[in-house]
Amino acid sequence: MDPVKSLRLEEKLSLCDGADAWHTKSFPEAGIPSLTMNDGPHGLRKSLDSSEVADINRSVPATCFPTAVLSACSWDPSLLEEIGRAIGEEAAAEGVGLLLGPGVNVKRNPLCGRNFEYFSEDPYLAGKLAAGFIRGVQSAGVGACLKHFACNSQEYKRFNSDSVLDERTLREIYLRAFEIAVKEGKPDAVMCAYNKINGVHCSDSKKLLTDILRREWGFDGMVVTDWGAMNDRVLALKAGCDLNMPGGSAYQEEEVLRALKIGELEPEALDRSASRIALLALKARKALEERPPCDRAAHHRLAKRAAIESAVLLKNRGGILPLDPKLDVLLLGPMARELRYQGAGSSHINPCQLHQITELRPDLPYLPGCAADGGKDAGLLREAVAAAKKAGVPVIFAGLPDAFECEGFDRDSMKMPEGYLELIDRVSAVNPHTVVVLMCGSPVEMPWAGKVRAILYMGLPGEAGAEAIVDLLFGKASPGGRLAETWPLREKDCVSAPYYSGRKDAHYREGVYVGYRYYTKAGIEARYSFGFGLSYSSFTYSDLRVEGDAVSCRVKNTGRVDASETVQLYVSPPGDDVYRPELELRGFKKLFLRRGESAVVSFPLDDRCFALWQDGWIVPAGEYRIRIGGCSADLPLCASVLREGVEWKPEGLTDWYAHPVGTPTHIDFERLLGRPVCERPLKKGSYIMDDTIDEMSGDSLVARMTARVMQKKLASAFRGKTDSPEYRMALSSVLDAPLRSLKIFLGRPSRLLDSLLDGVNGRPTALLRELLRERARKD
Ligand code: BGC
Repeated sequence: MDPVKSLRLEEKLSLCDGADAWHTKSFPEAGIPSLTMNDGPHGLRKSLDSSEVADINRSVPATCFPTAVLSACSWDPSLLEEIGRAIGEEAAAEGVGLLLGPGVNVKRNPLCGRNFEYFSEDPYLAGKLAAGFIRGVQSAGVGACLKHFACNSQEYKRFNSDSVLDERTLREIYLRAFEIAVKEGKPDAVMCAYNKINGVHCSDSKKLLTDILRREWGFDGMVVTDWGAMNDRVLALKAGCDLNMPGGSAYQEEEVLRALKIGELEPEALDRSASRIALLALKARKALEERPPCDRAAHHRLAKRAAIESAVLLKNRGGILPLDPKLDVLLLGPMARELRYQGAGSSHINPCQLHQITELRPDLPYLPGCAADGGKDAGLLREAVAAAKKAGVPVIFAGLPDAFECEGFDRDSMKMPEGYLELIDRVSAVNPHTVVVLMCGSPVEMPWAGKVRAILYMGLPGEAGAEAIVDLLFGKASPGGRLAETWPLREKDCVSAPYYSGRKDAHYREGVYVGYRYYTKAGIEARYSFGFGLSYSSFTYSDLRVEGDAVSCRVKNTGRVDASETVQLYVSPPGDDVYRPELELRGFKKLFLRRGESAVVSFPLDDRCFALWQDGWIVPAGEYRIRIGGCSADLPLCASVLREGVEWKPEGLTDWYAHPVGTPTHIDFERLLGRPVCERPLKKGSYIMDDTIDEMSGDSLVARMTARVMQKKLASAFRGKTDSPEYRMALSSVLDAPLRSLKIFLGRPSRLLDSLLDGVNGRPTALLRELLRERARKD
C-alpha cells in the first residue's frame, strides 16, 4: 500500500522538505507520522532546540563513545556493532527514528578538520566498520544514515567545493567504503554530501544517487541532503534525492511545481521520494513502539571497553608500560585535568558521566606545565620541569585542544601547540622515563617521539576515556588497537600536501595513492605505518596456505600476557611499473589469544581482492602476492597466486602514476582525467546562487557589508566568545555557505537572498526593496 496515495501533489512536495531542523512533516489524515532525525555518530546528539543555528552543544545527555578516529583502531566490526546497538537504544529511548551516522569518508589528508569523525584512509576497513555500526543501530529499531555521500574529504569551502577526480579513483577509493557499508550494513538512509563531484552537486547527481547507489548496490532506502546541501530541487528529485533538510524553507517548491506542470519532471519522481520518506517514518514509528531497554550504566562500561580495545601503544621502550605501581608517578599537562575526549561540531555529545585522570588518581601529584589552550607558560613549565626531575615517571597528557580541529574548517598544520611541545621536550630532557598519552583526532608531527620512553595514543576516547587510560597505564588492561591511518613523519610527506590546503576545489591529483597506498609505493618512511600498534604481548605468524579461493595461516601469542592481535591481509599486484598500489588491504581479523595460545585464521580470496576499475571491475591477469602480518610495514608471510584475467595496460598516463615520487603536477592530473581542468572565475556580474558571501566580498561592497552584519550578529549570539571552535564553525556556515544554502537555513521562504545576488552583481534596486519589506515584516 502506497502511504502517499491520498496526498495532494503539493502535500507530497511539502513532505519532501523537513518540518524544521530535526523532523519531517506529519500528515495525520493520511496516517503519515513525523520522523525524528538526530546526529550521531559517536552518541546521540538530540538537540534541545528545533533550529540548527541554535547552540550546537545543547542536547540531551547521552553516552559519548570513542570517536571514529579511535574506534576504527579496534579493527573490530563486532565492537562497532555493539556501539551502534547502544546508541540505537539511546536514540529509541528519546523517540529518535533515524540516527545521522556513521560517517565513512576516506581520510585523504591529515589536515581535514573532520577526520576525527571518520574511520580510515582505507575504504575496506572503513566500509566494514561502518557496516558493523549500521547493523548495531538498526538492530535497536532505529535507522542509520550513512554519510557524507561522497568525496567530502575536506572542510574548507565544504558547502560548494568541487571534488575533481577520475572514475577509477572514485570507484576504488572514495565509493568503496560506501559500497561495502550499503551492501553489508543495509542502512535505512544515506546522506548526500555538500560538495560537487566533477562539477555536479551530490544532491543533483543521478549517477551517484540512482545509477550507483540504488541500481548497482541495491539501496532501497531514503536519501536525505546534508543540512543545506540541496542545490536544484528539480534535478534532485530526478536524481533520487528525496528529503531536503533542514526543512521549513519550502526551498524551490515553485520551481518543482512549474517543472511538473510543463512535464519537465515526471510526477512519479515526486511520488517515489515522498513514499520513501513516508515509509521510513512509518517503519520508525512501529519500531519505536517496541523500544528496547536502555541501560546507560552498561553503555558507559561499553564506552570504556571500546576505548581500551582501540587504544594504540605506539612506543614502549624497555617495557615501561604498564607502570609499576611502586613508581613515583607525576601527572602533567592540562589534559590530565580536562581530557580532550570528543571533537567539536555536529557530533558533539553532552556526556552522561565524565571523569578526569586527576580525579580518578587523586593520590598522584599533578601539574599543568602549560596553558589550558596548549600555549606556553614559563611559570607553569618551570614548576613542571622541577617536579619531573625528582619524579619516577612523568606522564604527560598532551595533544590537540578543541580549537585545533573541528567540523567546518581544516587544520592549519600537523603541528602540536607550542606549550605541549615545550613541555614534552623539557620534561623528557630531565627525566628519561617520560611517558606521553596523546589525545588528538588526527595525526600530529611528533619530533619528540625519539625522546620519550612510551607513547599511548588515545585518539578522542569518549566519556570513559580517563578510566580506560588509568587501567591501561597501570596494567589492568592491554591496549588492543592498531592504527587505521598512516602517521607521516612530516606534513609535507603527504602526497597531497602541496595542493590540499586552502583550495576551494579539491583536485584529487594523487589518484588512488591515498594513505599507505602512496607511502608504500613511493617508498616514503612513515612515523607509524597503517595497521601499526604494539602490544603488551608478542605474536608469531606461520603455516601460510593458499587453497583454492582461500588463504589461511596460524597466529600464536608468544608473550607473557593474554592479548589481542589484528591479522591483516594485503594483496600486491603483478609488476612494479604499473599504476597500482604496492599493497591493498583485502582482509583482516582481530583475534584474542591467551598466552601460549594459537589459532588458524582464514580469508576468502574473491575477485574483488585482485580487481581494479576500468569501465567495470576487471582482474588484470598475472602473479599476485598475498601478504599477511600484524602491520602494513611488517608482513612476515607471503605467497604467490596466479590469477587468470584480462590484459590490462592503462593508457595516456604520465610516468608519475607508475612511479609516484614527488608531487603530481596539474598536467599529470589532466592526463589522468583525460580532460582539462579549470576553475570558474569569480567576478561581479557573474555571481550565482552557488557562490558564497565570502567569495563575493572580493569585489562587492554589498557582500562585504552583509558579511560584517552577519559576523556581528553571530558574535553577539555567541556573547562575544569568538575564540571557540563552535563560533568558527558557525561563522563558516554563514560566510562560506552558498546563497542557496542560506535560503534553506533561513527556514522560511524569502526573496532577500535573490535580491542580495542582484545587489552584488551590481543591481541594487531589488535588494533595497526587499530590505524595506523585511524591516516592515519585523515591525
Ligand atoms: C553535518 C552533518 C550533520 C548535519 C546535522 C551537517 O552540517 O555535515 O554531518 O548530520 O549537519 O547536524
